[in-house]
Amino acid sequence: KQEYEIAVYGRGGVGKSCLTLQFTLSWFMDEYDPTLEDSYKKSIVIDDQMANLDILDTAGQEDAVCEEENCQPDCRKRRRQHGYIFVYDITDRVSFEEMQPLQESILRHRQRQNISSEDSFPMILVGNKSDLEASRQVFFEEGASLAEQLGCKFVETSAKDKVNVEEIFFDLVRGIRKA
Ligand code: GTP
Ligand code: MG
Repeated sequence: KQEYEIAVYGRGGVGKSCLTLQFTLSWFMDEYDPTLEDSYKKSIVIDDQMANLDILDTAGQEDAVCEEENCQPDCRKRRRQHGYIFVYDITDRVSFEEMQPLQESILRHRQRQNISSEDSFPMILVGNKSDLEASRQVFFEEGASLAEQLGCKFVETSAKDKVNVEEIFFDLVRGIRKA
């Protein structure tokens, strides 16, 4: 199987769109234009195997995860992703503190969709804007220890300087393949 549906989550302004655009189009946008919801496709070879990525760039300004108890099959947010990218901004502690509740709400949503909690949940935790060292509010070690708690990998990135951007997507695809 070569199709990989990946969703990027996190608070508004953390850099979800910039990471996605840097990865898919090698392009960085300086201005902030809040996303409604976009999806991007990219096909790449990872470890000698083709991967067709369908990346959902969610809107940080609204609840990305449906919290309705009786969420219906036609719910716009009812979807099953193969892998998740959780992004916070190292200069914004609030965005970091939202990571764990976000995972919990996605797990609840999956439960409502009858996706077993035993099912794998490939995800990666990303601390973006590592180029803004002078404004850092979240230490690298804090990110690493949260990732351990959430049971996933951790990487700090800069969408601006293109640091570790490909690594996120490669790691996640490898994680999905192993799952
Ligand atoms: P929503 O669409 O509202 O959820 O926000 P988003 O998470 O998609 O953020 P977006 O990618 O639009 O980036 C928000 C702002 O942060 C923009 O002004 C970007 O230029 C800036 N930004 C994103 N990534 C980086 C980075 O790695 N370094 C720096 N210095 N700025 C960044
Ligand atoms: Mg966006």
